[in-house]
Amino acid sequence: MAHRVVLDTDPGIDDSLAILLALASPEIELAGVSVTGGNCPLDNGVHNALNVVALAGQPELPVYSGVALPLLRPPLTAPETHGDAGLGHAHLPTSEVPPADEHGVDMIIREITAHPGEITLVAVAPLTNVALAIRKEPRIVEAVRHVIIMGGALRVDGNTTPLAEFNFYVDPHAASIVLHSGMPITLLPWDITKDILLTQEAIDQLLQISSPVSTFIADAARFYIDFHLTHFGFAGCSINDPAALALVFRPDLATITPLFVDIETTSEVTMGKTIGDFRNESGHPHNVQLVTAFDSESFLQIFVSRMEMLADRTRTA
Ligand code: RIB
Ligand code: CA
Repeated sequence: MAHRVVLDTDPGIDDSLAILLALASPEIELAGVSVTGGNCPLDNGVHNALNVVALAGQPELPVYSGVALPLLRPPLTAPETHGDAGLGHAHLPTSEVPPADEHGVDMIIREITAHPGEITLVAVAPLTNVALAIRKEPRIVEAVRHVIIMGGALRVDGNTTPLAEFNFYVDPHAASIVLHSGMPITLLPWDITKDILLTQEAIDQLLQISSPVSTFIADAARFYIDFHLTHFGFAGCSINDPAALALVFRPDLATITPLFVDIETTSEVTMGKTIGDFRNESGHPHNVQLVTAFDSESFLQIFVSRMEMLADRTRTA
């Protein structure tokens, strides 16, 4: 039986790859994609999500506009990482389908309360939508089946400040609300995802299939790889968000450990820093299952093969 999934995003290149992986995976019933501000402004993100679901051949897959700005912090986008429009060098036809009328926060609440014990919420953006959903309807904490979050940097440098990872830095107050909510959270941090690299070699393999899907991935990833090479010296791009999505149907890819995790929300110097109580000194019960290892090689094989399948469905030659 397929997992019913709500995917909360800020598309963004790797968010877009997560959307494509969800639509290419028979194990997943994608109920909807909600969008918040992050990698690019909200309206760009909504536009990108609509065009990506259309690229995958499912233009009617509902996309929901969510909260535009962080709860308290000033807005922060990442044009250097994802390009001004949010998809690197890729350009997609504009979908004729508009975003859903329902707000993204209300969709998250509706899906979880209408399907108690069934919904897996995959959150790969700043957690503003998720935090406000909890505040608006606290019952979702008990009703949600599982929450998989890509965010935080615990024992490595951040990718946005020396200490903080982007999703948690953009809205640390939202992250704090979610981390301390009691939701059943699996946390996939930058510690792990920084090493999950999509390489040019894999993209060249995908380009053997002449398709708008492979062209999109190649054009988006070309920008993303250039950024990772310049900024981190990586020989590929970290595909953080599809890795989080894959944990829905392949939890065996991850090694996890229960941990109490907190986040800095006051000091400007350490804002957004995630702290793991690895020696249980705080006395607090664990609030996440932290991913401490990940089978990147197996995941990347799954990802590329499913992108090949998706590309084959829309082959042009
Ligand atoms: O730090 C990486 C995360 O921040 C990813 O989800 C990326 O898309 C950005 O949102
Ligand atoms: Ca993201």
